[in-house]
Amino acid sequence: MRIAVIGSGYVGLVAATCFAEMGNEVITVDKDAWKIEDLGKGKIPIYEPGLDEMVHHNVEEGRLVFTTDIADAVRRSSIIFIAVGTPPDEDGSADLKHVLAVAREIGRHMDGPRIVVNKSTVPVGTADLVKKEITGLTAHPVSVVSNPEFLKEGTAIDDFMKPDRVVIGTSDASAAEAMKELYSPFVRTNNPIIVMGNRSAEMTKYVANSLLAARISFMNEIANLCDIIDADVNEVRIGVGSDHRIGPSFLFPGVGFGGSCFPKDVRALMATARENGCSLRSLEAAHAINEDQKHVVVAKVRKHFGPELKGLRFAVWGLSFKPNTDDIRESPPLTIIRGLLEAGAGIAVFDPQAMENSAASLGSSVTFCRHGYEALEGADALLLLTEWMEFREPDFPRMLTLMKTPVIFDGRNVWNPEKLKKLGFTYYGIGRR
Ligand SMILES: NC(=O)c1ccc[n+]([C@@H]2O[C@H](COP(=O)([O-])OP(=O)(O)OC[C@H]3O[C@@H](n4cnc5c(N)ncnc54)[C@H](O)[C@@H]3O)[C@@H](O)[C@H]2O)c1
Repeated sequence: MRIAVIGSGYVGLVAATCFAEMGNEVITVDKDAWKIEDLGKGKIPIYEPGLDEMVHHNVEEGRLVFTTDIADAVRRSSIIFIAVGTPPDEDGSADLKHVLAVAREIGRHMDGPRIVVNKSTVPVGTADLVKKEITGLTAHPVSVVSNPEFLKEGTAIDDFMKPDRVVIGTSDASAAEAMKELYSPFVRTNNPIIVMGNRSAEMTKYVANSLLAARISFMNEIANLCDIIDADVNEVRIGVGSDHRIGPSFLFPGVGFGGSCFPKDVRALMATARENGCSLRSLEAAHAINEDQKHVVVAKVRKHFGPELKGLRFAVWGLSFKPNTDDIRESPPLTIIRGLLEAGAGIAVFDPQAMENSAASLGSSVTFCRHGYEALEGADALLLLTEWMEFREPDFPRMLTLMKTPVIFDGRNVWNPEKLKKLGFTYYGIGRR
Protein backbone atom coordinates (compact mmCIF):
# COMPACT_ATOMS: atom_id res chain seq x y z
CA MET A 1 0.00 0.00 0.00
CA ARG A 2 1.00 3.62 -0.45
CA ILE A 3 0.83 5.40 2.85
CA ALA A 4 1.57 8.91 4.09
CA VAL A 5 2.28 9.57 7.76
CA ILE A 6 2.02 13.23 8.73
CA GLY A 7 4.08 14.02 11.84
CA SER A 8 7.35 12.20 12.39
CA GLY A 9 7.72 12.26 16.17
CA TYR A 10 7.71 9.38 18.66
CA VAL A 11 4.54 7.89 17.14
CA GLY A 12 4.67 8.95 13.48
CA LEU A 13 8.25 7.91 12.86
CA VAL A 14 7.77 4.52 14.52
CA ALA A 15 4.47 3.85 12.73
CA ALA A 16 5.89 4.89 9.35
CA THR A 17 8.97 2.73 9.80
CA CYS A 18 7.00 -0.32 10.92
CA PHE A 19 4.56 0.01 8.00
CA ALA A 20 7.56 0.21 5.66
CA GLU A 21 9.11 -2.83 7.35
CA MET A 22 6.01 -4.80 6.32
CA GLY A 23 6.62 -3.88 2.67
CA ASN A 24 4.44 -0.79 2.28
CA GLU A 25 5.67 2.36 0.53
CA VAL A 26 5.63 5.11 3.13
CA ILE A 27 6.10 8.87 2.83
CA THR A 28 6.83 10.47 6.19
CA VAL A 29 6.07 14.17 6.49
CA ASP A 30 7.00 16.76 9.08
CA LYS A 31 6.73 20.53 9.08
CA ASP A 32 10.07 20.83 10.90
CA ALA A 33 12.56 21.11 8.05
CA TRP A 34 15.53 20.34 10.36
CA LYS A 35 13.94 17.05 11.40
CA ILE A 36 13.40 15.99 7.79
CA GLU A 37 16.90 17.13 6.87
CA ASP A 38 18.36 15.07 9.74
CA LEU A 39 16.30 12.02 8.76
CA GLY A 40 17.45 12.44 5.16
CA LYS A 41 21.05 12.29 6.40
CA GLY A 42 20.30 9.15 8.41
CA LYS A 43 20.18 10.97 11.77
CA ILE A 44 17.25 9.86 13.93
CA PRO A 45 15.87 12.80 15.96
CA ILE A 46 14.67 10.67 18.92
CA TYR A 47 16.11 7.84 20.98
CA GLU A 48 14.04 4.69 20.61
CA PRO A 49 15.75 1.28 20.85
CA GLY A 50 15.91 -0.50 17.47
CA LEU A 51 14.51 2.41 15.47
CA ASP A 52 17.80 3.55 13.98
CA GLU A 53 18.53 0.25 12.25
CA MET A 54 14.99 -0.21 11.01
CA VAL A 55 14.81 3.30 9.52
CA HIS A 56 18.13 2.86 7.70
CA HIS A 57 17.17 -0.54 6.35
CA ASN A 58 13.86 0.71 4.92
CA VAL A 59 15.39 3.88 3.49
CA GLU A 60 17.99 1.74 1.72
CA GLU A 61 15.23 -0.50 0.34
CA GLY A 62 13.46 2.62 -0.97
CA ARG A 63 10.26 1.99 0.99
CA LEU A 64 10.62 4.90 3.42
CA VAL A 65 11.11 8.53 2.35
CA PHE A 66 11.02 11.82 4.26
CA THR A 67 9.68 15.14 3.09
CA THR A 68 8.21 18.46 4.18
CA ASP A 69 6.00 18.46 1.06
CA ILE A 70 2.61 17.46 2.45
CA ALA A 71 0.82 18.20 -0.88
CA ASP A 72 2.93 15.65 -2.73
CA ALA A 73 2.52 13.07 0.06
CA VAL A 74 -1.28 13.50 0.00
CA ARG A 75 -1.44 13.12 -3.78
CA ARG A 76 0.71 9.98 -3.80
CA SER A 77 -0.98 8.05 -0.97
CA SER A 78 -4.30 6.25 -0.59
CA ILE A 79 -4.17 6.12 3.22
CA ILE A 80 -3.01 9.18 5.15
CA PHE A 81 -2.18 8.95 8.85
CA ILE A 82 -2.30 12.03 11.08
CA ALA A 83 0.27 11.57 13.87
CA VAL A 84 0.92 15.12 15.04
CA GLY A 85 0.99 16.30 18.66
CA THR A 86 -2.16 17.08 20.66
CA PRO A 87 -0.68 19.05 23.57
CA PRO A 88 -2.83 20.25 26.46
CA ASP A 89 -4.59 23.57 26.07
CA GLU A 90 -4.76 25.97 29.03
CA ASP A 91 -7.88 24.26 30.43
CA GLY A 92 -6.38 20.77 30.05
CA SER A 93 -8.36 19.86 26.93
CA ALA A 94 -6.44 18.55 23.92
CA ASP A 95 -5.34 21.29 21.56
CA LEU A 96 -6.39 20.18 18.08
CA LYS A 97 -4.75 22.97 16.10
CA HIS A 98 -2.08 20.70 14.56
CA VAL A 99 -4.57 17.93 13.72
CA LEU A 100 -7.02 20.33 12.08
CA ALA A 101 -4.24 22.17 10.22
CA VAL A 102 -3.18 18.84 8.72
CA ALA A 103 -6.82 18.02 7.88
CA ARG A 104 -7.06 21.28 5.92
CA GLU A 105 -3.83 20.52 4.06
CA ILE A 106 -5.23 17.11 3.12
CA GLY A 107 -8.50 18.66 1.94
CA ARG A 108 -6.63 21.18 -0.16
CA HIS A 109 -4.40 18.65 -1.91
CA MET A 110 -6.29 15.36 -2.32
CA ASP A 111 -7.04 14.57 -5.95
CA GLY A 112 -9.22 11.49 -5.46
CA PRO A 113 -10.84 9.42 -2.68
CA ARG A 114 -8.74 8.99 0.46
CA ILE A 115 -8.79 7.25 3.81
CA VAL A 116 -7.60 9.63 6.52
CA VAL A 117 -6.59 8.00 9.80
CA ASN A 118 -6.38 9.82 13.13
CA LYS A 119 -3.52 8.18 14.97
CA SER A 120 -2.98 11.13 17.28
CA THR A 121 -4.75 10.85 20.63
CA VAL A 122 -7.81 13.02 20.12
CA PRO A 123 -11.00 13.70 22.07
CA VAL A 124 -14.35 12.18 21.23
CA GLY A 125 -15.84 13.91 18.20
CA THR A 126 -12.54 14.76 16.50
CA ALA A 127 -13.13 12.40 13.56
CA ASP A 128 -16.25 14.45 12.75
CA LEU A 129 -14.26 17.70 12.98
CA VAL A 130 -11.50 16.34 10.74
CA LYS A 131 -14.05 15.21 8.17
CA LYS A 132 -15.74 18.62 8.24
CA GLU A 133 -12.42 20.42 7.67
CA ILE A 134 -11.56 18.16 4.74
CA THR A 135 -14.94 18.10 3.02
CA GLY A 136 -15.08 21.89 3.26
CA LEU A 137 -12.11 22.00 0.88
CA THR A 138 -12.67 19.13 -1.55
CA ALA A 139 -15.45 17.36 -3.43
CA HIS A 140 -13.56 14.02 -3.39
CA PRO A 141 -14.90 11.42 -0.95
CA VAL A 142 -13.01 10.94 2.30
CA SER A 143 -13.40 8.35 5.04
CA VAL A 144 -12.03 9.33 8.45
CA VAL A 145 -10.89 6.42 10.61
CA SER A 146 -9.94 6.65 14.30
CA ASN A 147 -6.96 4.40 14.99
CA PRO A 148 -5.47 5.31 18.39
CA GLU A 149 -1.93 4.22 19.09
CA PHE A 150 -1.00 2.24 22.20
CA LEU A 151 2.79 1.96 21.80
CA LYS A 152 5.03 2.74 24.74
CA GLU A 153 8.18 4.79 24.34
CA GLY A 154 11.19 2.58 25.04
CA THR A 155 9.52 -0.52 23.55
CA ALA A 156 7.74 1.25 20.70
CA ILE A 157 8.95 -0.97 17.86
CA ASP A 158 7.97 -4.16 19.60
CA ASP A 159 4.63 -2.71 20.67
CA PHE A 160 3.85 -1.57 17.14
CA MET A 161 4.99 -4.77 15.46
CA LYS A 162 3.11 -6.99 17.93
CA PRO A 163 0.18 -4.95 19.27
CA ASP A 164 -2.07 -6.43 21.98
CA ARG A 165 -4.91 -5.19 19.79
CA VAL A 166 -5.57 -2.77 16.97
CA VAL A 167 -8.54 -0.47 17.44
CA ILE A 168 -10.24 0.73 14.25
CA GLY A 169 -13.00 3.30 14.65
CA THR A 170 -15.16 3.67 11.55
CA SER A 171 -18.66 3.10 10.25
CA ASP A 172 -17.36 2.66 6.69
CA ALA A 173 -17.05 -1.06 5.87
CA SER A 174 -14.61 -0.60 2.99
CA ALA A 175 -12.31 1.63 5.09
CA ALA A 176 -12.44 -1.02 7.84
CA GLU A 177 -11.42 -3.68 5.28
CA ALA A 178 -8.49 -1.56 4.04
CA MET A 179 -7.30 -1.01 7.62
CA LYS A 180 -7.60 -4.72 8.42
CA GLU A 181 -5.52 -5.53 5.36
CA LEU A 182 -2.87 -3.00 6.38
CA TYR A 183 -2.68 -4.34 9.93
CA SER A 184 -3.05 -8.06 9.22
CA PRO A 185 0.76 -8.70 9.09
CA PHE A 186 1.02 -7.21 12.62
CA VAL A 187 -1.48 -9.62 14.20
CA ARG A 188 -0.37 -12.99 12.92
CA THR A 189 -0.66 -14.41 16.44
CA ASN A 190 -4.37 -13.58 16.28
CA ASN A 191 -4.37 -10.58 18.55
CA PRO A 192 -7.63 -8.85 17.71
CA ILE A 193 -8.34 -6.06 15.27
CA ILE A 194 -11.36 -4.50 16.92
CA VAL A 195 -13.69 -2.47 14.72
CA MET A 196 -15.97 -0.05 16.52
CA GLY A 197 -17.50 3.40 16.10
CA ASN A 198 -15.21 6.43 15.79
CA ARG A 199 -16.30 7.85 19.13
CA SER A 200 -15.74 4.60 20.99
CA ALA A 201 -12.27 4.28 19.45
CA GLU A 202 -11.38 7.83 20.50
CA MET A 203 -12.69 7.12 24.00
CA THR A 204 -10.85 3.76 24.25
CA LYS A 205 -7.45 5.43 24.10
CA TYR A 206 -8.22 7.92 26.87
CA VAL A 207 -9.79 5.27 29.09
CA ALA A 208 -6.79 2.93 28.68
CA ASN A 209 -4.28 5.62 29.64
CA SER A 210 -6.45 6.96 32.46
CA LEU A 211 -6.93 3.52 33.96
CA LEU A 212 -3.18 2.85 33.92
CA ALA A 213 -2.46 6.29 35.39
CA ALA A 214 -5.06 5.70 38.11
CA ARG A 215 -3.40 2.37 39.04
CA ILE A 216 -0.10 4.15 39.49
CA SER A 217 -1.65 6.88 41.62
CA PHE A 218 -3.46 4.31 43.73
CA MET A 219 -0.22 2.46 44.43
CA ASN A 220 1.60 5.71 45.17
CA GLU A 221 -1.00 6.58 47.75
CA ILE A 222 -0.72 3.09 49.26
CA ALA A 223 3.08 3.47 49.30
CA ASN A 224 2.81 6.70 51.24
CA LEU A 225 0.63 4.93 53.82
CA CYS A 226 3.13 2.03 53.97
CA ASP A 227 5.81 4.60 54.77
CA ILE A 228 3.87 5.75 57.81
CA ILE A 229 2.81 2.36 59.13
CA ASP A 230 6.17 0.68 58.43
CA ALA A 231 4.96 -1.87 55.87
CA ASP A 232 6.99 -2.60 52.72
CA VAL A 233 5.01 -1.63 49.62
CA ASN A 234 7.25 -3.81 47.48
CA GLU A 235 6.11 -6.89 49.37
CA VAL A 236 2.51 -5.67 49.21
CA ARG A 237 2.86 -5.08 45.45
CA ILE A 238 4.03 -8.64 44.85
CA GLY A 239 1.32 -10.07 47.07
CA VAL A 240 -1.39 -8.09 45.34
CA GLY A 241 -0.09 -8.40 41.78
CA SER A 242 -0.05 -12.20 41.82
CA ASP A 243 -3.84 -12.14 41.95
CA HIS A 244 -4.91 -12.88 38.35
CA ARG A 245 -7.78 -10.44 38.63
CA ILE A 246 -5.26 -7.67 39.35
CA GLY A 247 -2.04 -8.64 37.53
CA PRO A 248 1.49 -7.36 38.17
CA SER A 249 1.77 -4.44 35.71
CA PHE A 250 1.56 -0.77 36.62
CA LEU A 251 1.69 -1.41 40.35
CA PHE A 252 5.14 0.10 40.87
CA PRO A 253 5.10 3.13 43.15
CA GLY A 254 7.58 5.90 42.43
CA VAL A 255 7.99 9.61 41.83
CA GLY A 256 4.72 10.03 39.91
CA PHE A 257 3.77 9.40 36.31
CA GLY A 258 4.99 11.75 33.60
CA GLY A 259 5.73 11.76 29.90
CA SER A 260 3.88 13.12 26.94
CA CYS A 261 0.78 10.93 27.36
CA PHE A 262 -0.55 10.03 30.81
CA PRO A 263 -0.65 13.53 32.36
CA LYS A 264 -2.08 15.14 29.24
CA ASP A 265 -4.58 12.38 28.49
CA VAL A 266 -5.84 12.33 32.08
CA ARG A 267 -6.37 16.11 31.94
CA ALA A 268 -8.05 15.86 28.52
CA LEU A 269 -10.51 13.20 29.67
CA MET A 270 -11.34 15.28 32.74
CA ALA A 271 -11.94 18.24 30.40
CA THR A 272 -14.22 16.12 28.19
CA ALA A 273 -16.23 15.18 31.28
CA ARG A 274 -16.45 18.83 32.39
CA GLU A 275 -17.54 20.00 28.94
CA ASN A 276 -20.32 17.43 29.11
CA GLY A 277 -21.54 18.48 32.51
CA CYS A 278 -20.14 15.64 34.59
CA SER A 279 -17.03 14.94 36.60
CA LEU A 280 -14.73 11.95 36.78
CA ARG A 281 -13.96 11.98 40.47
CA SER A 282 -11.68 8.96 40.52
CA LEU A 283 -9.59 10.49 37.73
CA GLU A 284 -9.47 13.88 39.43
CA ALA A 285 -8.12 12.12 42.52
CA ALA A 286 -5.55 10.20 40.44
CA HIS A 287 -4.39 13.47 38.89
CA ALA A 288 -4.16 15.31 42.25
CA ILE A 289 -2.28 12.39 43.86
CA ASN A 290 0.20 12.46 40.99
CA GLU A 291 0.85 16.18 41.37
CA ASP A 292 1.60 15.61 45.08
CA GLN A 293 3.71 12.51 44.42
CA LYS A 294 6.26 14.51 42.45
CA HIS A 295 7.12 16.31 45.73
CA VAL A 296 7.46 13.24 47.95
CA VAL A 297 11.19 12.72 47.33
CA VAL A 298 12.02 16.37 48.05
CA ALA A 299 10.01 16.10 51.28
CA LYS A 300 12.06 13.02 52.25
CA VAL A 301 15.30 14.87 51.47
CA ARG A 302 14.22 17.79 53.65
CA LYS A 303 13.15 15.48 56.44
CA HIS A 304 16.63 13.96 56.46
CA PHE A 305 18.75 17.10 55.93
CA GLY A 306 16.40 19.81 57.28
CA PRO A 307 14.32 22.31 55.26
CA GLU A 308 17.29 24.42 54.17
CA LEU A 309 19.39 22.63 51.54
CA LYS A 310 21.88 25.45 50.92
CA GLY A 311 25.45 24.19 50.74
CA LEU A 312 24.37 20.60 50.07
CA ARG A 313 25.13 18.84 46.81
CA PHE A 314 23.01 16.07 45.38
CA ALA A 315 23.64 13.58 42.60
CA VAL A 316 20.66 12.74 40.40
CA TRP A 317 20.59 9.60 38.28
CA GLY A 318 17.87 9.71 35.64
CA LEU A 319 16.13 12.60 33.88
CA SER A 320 13.78 10.97 31.36
CA PHE A 321 10.25 10.19 32.55
CA LYS A 322 11.01 6.49 32.21
CA PRO A 323 13.93 4.32 31.00
CA ASN A 324 14.83 3.71 27.36
CA THR A 325 13.67 7.07 26.09
CA ASP A 326 15.14 10.56 25.80
CA ASP A 327 11.68 12.06 26.33
CA ILE A 328 11.55 14.54 29.23
CA ARG A 329 8.06 15.92 28.62
CA GLU A 330 6.39 16.32 32.05
CA SER A 331 9.21 14.26 33.55
CA PRO A 332 8.92 14.07 37.38
CA PRO A 333 12.75 14.13 37.79
CA LEU A 334 12.75 17.68 36.41
CA THR A 335 10.11 18.79 38.96
CA ILE A 336 12.16 17.19 41.74
CA ILE A 337 15.35 18.89 40.56
CA ARG A 338 13.59 22.26 40.49
CA GLY A 339 12.35 21.63 44.05
CA LEU A 340 15.88 20.92 45.26
CA LEU A 341 17.28 23.97 43.46
CA GLU A 342 14.61 26.19 45.01
CA ALA A 343 15.68 24.95 48.46
CA GLY A 344 19.25 26.03 47.66
CA ALA A 345 20.87 22.68 46.77
CA GLY A 346 23.55 22.12 44.15
CA ILE A 347 22.82 19.32 41.67
CA ALA A 348 24.96 17.08 39.46
CA VAL A 349 23.01 14.94 36.99
CA PHE A 350 23.48 12.00 34.68
CA ASP A 351 21.10 10.24 32.31
CA PRO A 352 22.12 7.77 29.58
CA GLN A 353 20.01 9.44 26.84
CA ALA A 354 18.12 12.49 28.10
CA MET A 355 20.99 14.92 28.81
CA GLU A 356 20.65 16.88 25.57
CA ASN A 357 16.89 17.41 25.92
CA SER A 358 17.30 18.28 29.62
CA ALA A 359 20.02 20.83 28.92
CA ALA A 360 17.48 22.92 27.05
CA SER A 361 15.19 22.90 30.07
CA LEU A 362 17.65 23.01 33.02
CA GLY A 363 20.38 25.12 31.40
CA SER A 364 23.31 25.90 33.66
CA SER A 365 21.36 25.42 36.90
CA VAL A 366 22.81 21.90 37.25
CA THR A 367 26.09 20.20 36.39
CA PHE A 368 25.81 17.63 33.59
CA CYS A 369 28.19 14.70 34.16
CA ARG A 370 29.71 12.16 31.78
CA HIS A 371 28.61 9.20 33.90
CA GLY A 372 26.79 8.40 37.10
CA TYR A 373 29.92 8.05 39.22
CA GLU A 374 31.15 11.51 38.26
CA ALA A 375 27.89 12.96 39.58
CA LEU A 376 28.53 11.23 42.92
CA GLU A 377 31.84 12.96 43.65
CA GLY A 378 31.43 14.82 46.96
CA ALA A 379 27.65 14.27 46.97
CA ASP A 380 25.65 14.53 50.18
CA ALA A 381 23.12 12.09 48.74
CA LEU A 382 22.10 10.28 45.57
CA LEU A 383 18.60 10.44 44.15
CA LEU A 384 17.70 7.65 41.74
CA LEU A 385 14.81 9.00 39.67
CA THR A 386 14.67 6.90 36.47
CA GLU A 387 15.23 3.14 36.60
CA TRP A 388 17.58 2.69 33.63
CA MET A 389 19.04 -0.84 33.48
CA GLU A 390 22.55 0.45 33.96
CA PHE A 391 21.57 1.85 37.37
CA ARG A 392 20.25 -1.45 38.67
CA GLU A 393 23.54 -3.08 39.73
CA PRO A 394 26.03 -0.26 40.24
CA ASP A 395 29.35 -0.58 42.03
CA PHE A 396 28.14 0.25 45.55
CA PRO A 397 31.59 0.07 47.25
CA ARG A 398 32.90 2.56 44.66
CA MET A 399 29.91 4.79 45.33
CA LEU A 400 30.74 4.77 49.04
CA THR A 401 34.25 6.05 48.30
CA LEU A 402 32.94 8.88 46.08
CA MET A 403 30.08 10.23 48.17
CA LYS A 404 30.55 12.69 51.00
CA THR A 405 27.73 11.05 52.95
CA PRO A 406 26.26 7.71 51.86
CA VAL A 407 22.57 8.60 51.70
CA ILE A 408 20.32 7.20 48.98
CA PHE A 409 16.82 8.24 47.96
CA ASP A 410 15.61 5.47 45.70
CA GLY A 411 12.66 7.06 43.90
CA ARG A 412 11.97 3.85 41.95
CA ASN A 413 12.43 1.17 44.63
CA VAL A 414 15.11 -0.46 42.49
CA TRP A 415 17.61 -1.38 45.16
CA ASN A 416 17.50 -3.77 48.09
CA PRO A 417 17.26 -1.73 51.31
CA GLU A 418 18.77 -4.47 53.49
CA LYS A 419 21.79 -4.90 51.20
CA LEU A 420 22.43 -1.15 51.07
CA LYS A 421 22.11 -0.72 54.81
CA LYS A 422 24.61 -3.55 55.38
CA LEU A 423 27.03 -1.77 53.05
CA GLY A 424 26.72 1.38 55.13
CA PHE A 425 24.19 3.46 53.20
CA THR A 426 21.23 5.26 54.68
CA TYR A 427 18.37 4.19 52.42
CA TYR A 428 15.00 5.78 51.70
CA GLY A 429 12.61 4.21 49.18
CA ILE A 430 8.99 4.96 48.32
CA GLY A 431 6.83 3.08 50.79
CA ARG A 432 9.72 1.03 52.14
CA ARG A 433 12.79 1.63 54.26
N1 LIG B 1 4.64 9.48 22.50
C1 LIG B 1 3.92 8.41 22.80
O1 LIG B 1 4.38 7.50 23.51
C2 LIG B 1 2.51 8.26 22.27
C3 LIG B 1 1.86 7.02 22.38
C4 LIG B 1 0.57 6.89 21.87
C5 LIG B 1 -0.07 8.00 21.33
N2 LIG B 1 0.57 9.21 21.28
C6 LIG B 1 -0.13 10.34 20.67
O2 LIG B 1 0.37 10.50 19.34
C7 LIG B 1 0.40 11.88 18.99
C8 LIG B 1 1.81 12.27 18.58
O3 LIG B 1 2.65 12.12 19.71
P1 LIG B 1 4.24 12.19 19.60
O4 LIG B 1 4.78 11.85 20.94
O5 LIG B 1 4.66 11.42 18.42
O6 LIG B 1 4.43 13.74 19.31
P2 LIG B 1 5.78 14.47 18.81
O7 LIG B 1 5.68 15.84 19.35
O8 LIG B 1 6.97 13.62 19.13
O9 LIG B 1 5.64 14.48 17.22
C9 LIG B 1 4.69 15.24 16.53
C10 LIG B 1 5.32 15.68 15.23
O10 LIG B 1 4.31 16.30 14.42
C11 LIG B 1 4.91 17.36 13.71
N3 LIG B 1 3.87 18.28 13.24
C12 LIG B 1 3.09 19.13 13.96
N4 LIG B 1 2.26 19.81 13.14
C13 LIG B 1 2.51 19.38 11.88
C14 LIG B 1 1.99 19.72 10.61
N5 LIG B 1 1.03 20.64 10.47
N6 LIG B 1 2.50 19.08 9.52
C15 LIG B 1 3.47 18.16 9.65
N7 LIG B 1 4.01 17.81 10.83
C16 LIG B 1 3.54 18.42 11.94
C17 LIG B 1 5.85 17.99 14.72
O11 LIG B 1 6.85 18.77 14.10
C18 LIG B 1 6.42 16.73 15.40
O12 LIG B 1 7.60 16.29 14.77
C19 LIG B 1 -0.14 12.63 20.20
O13 LIG B 1 -1.51 12.84 20.03
C20 LIG B 1 0.11 11.66 21.34
O14 LIG B 1 -0.77 11.85 22.41
C21 LIG B 1 1.84 9.35 21.73
